[in-house]
Amino acid sequence: MRSVSKSLIVIASLALTSLAGVPTAIFHGFGDSCIFPGMWEFTDQIANVTNAYATCVEIGWGTTTSIFENFETQAEEACRKVQADPNFQGEFNVVGLSQGGLLARHIVERCATQGQPRNLITIGAPNFGVSASPHCFSGMFCDMINYVIDNMVYFSYLQDNIGPAGYFRDPADLTTYLEYSVFLPYLNNERAENFTQSINNRFTGLNGAMFIMFSNDTMIYPKETAWFYQLEADYETITPVTETEFYKQDLIGLKTLNEAGRVQFVEWTGDHLQFSFDKINSVLGPFLNK
Ligand SMILES: *[C@@H]1O[C@H](CO)[C@@H](O)[C@H](O)[C@H]1NC(C)=O
Ligand SMILES: *[C@@H]1O[C@H](CO)[C@@H](O)[C@H](O)[C@H]1NC(C)=O
Ligand SMILES: *[C@@H]1O[C@H](CO)[C@@H](O)[C@H](O)[C@H]1NC(C)=O
Repeated sequence: MRSVSKSLIVIASLALTSLAGVPTAIFHGFGDSCIFPGMWEFTDQIANVTNAYATCVEIGWGTTTSIFENFETQAEEACRKVQADPNFQGEFNVVGLSQGGLLARHIVERCATQGQPRNLITIGAPNFGVSASPHCFSGMFCDMINYVIDNMVYFSYLQDNIGPAGYFRDPADLTTYLEYSVFLPYLNNERAENFTQSINNRFTGLNGAMFIMFSNDTMIYPKETAWFYQLEADYETITPVTETEFYKQDLIGLKTLNEAGRVQFVEWTGDHLQFSFDKINSVLGPFLNK
């Protein structure tokens, strides 16, 4: 009797083991922190739904670092932390919210991890850059802020001291963007002299990638940046990803991965990062477990 129940337990735990997904590294957004309840619960629920280890990878001091540190420096720290985590020596998933989505992509594309990244999810991420300061589209104060951003964002002082400056993309002045932005042109493999084949190889090595856009996102402009859509120099026209040179030239391998049926462009209703946790169980979990 005892040995029967023992072997039942063994069978049951084998079944559980085989159901467990791979571990997940999670990156929070601008002004957030791994210790805030929202991130804590998000991470906990990802762990539940994948039945595996999940951790929110903190960069520096969290909130202030996410705002005030050079974005390339944040990305390098993200990479070192993932490399050092014993749970990420085999296959693992990467999930990033808002600007954390860019850190997640950095791990997939530019970080020499021991383990192979399996699935990538970015949620409301400025994947193709942002073009005006958050929540600041009109009014005199906003005009002033946007004037500073438009004219000075690529000064090394801002690039070194304001995180989001690293993914600001002025469509009317791409030359300056390509020349002086410390982060996004490299992540998107847009600088011809720095084209890196391994970015492409690593990205196309993904099992799957999901890019989630919020239908009423007022934080990142344009909201379609979450899907790599490109804002044109008139600041209004938005070119779908498949019509961009970035996609056609397959700079990071998005075209290859998409044509293989392994990319999902998903739209959620609501403003920036406004989603219910049901989505973790119904959308994120099943995708991460693939
Ligand atoms: C995760 O599962 C544990 C144990 O079942 C539970 O206590 C916890 O509330 C769950 N977390 C979330 C966010 O659902
Ligand atoms: C980009 O290319 C230039 C010129 O070859 C080189 O000096 C620089 O270190 C490269 N930067 C990166 C981030 O690879
Ligand atoms: C989204 O924004 C549009 C245009 O501003 C508005 O008409 C619509 O009611 C908004 N929808 C939601 C769900 O907030």
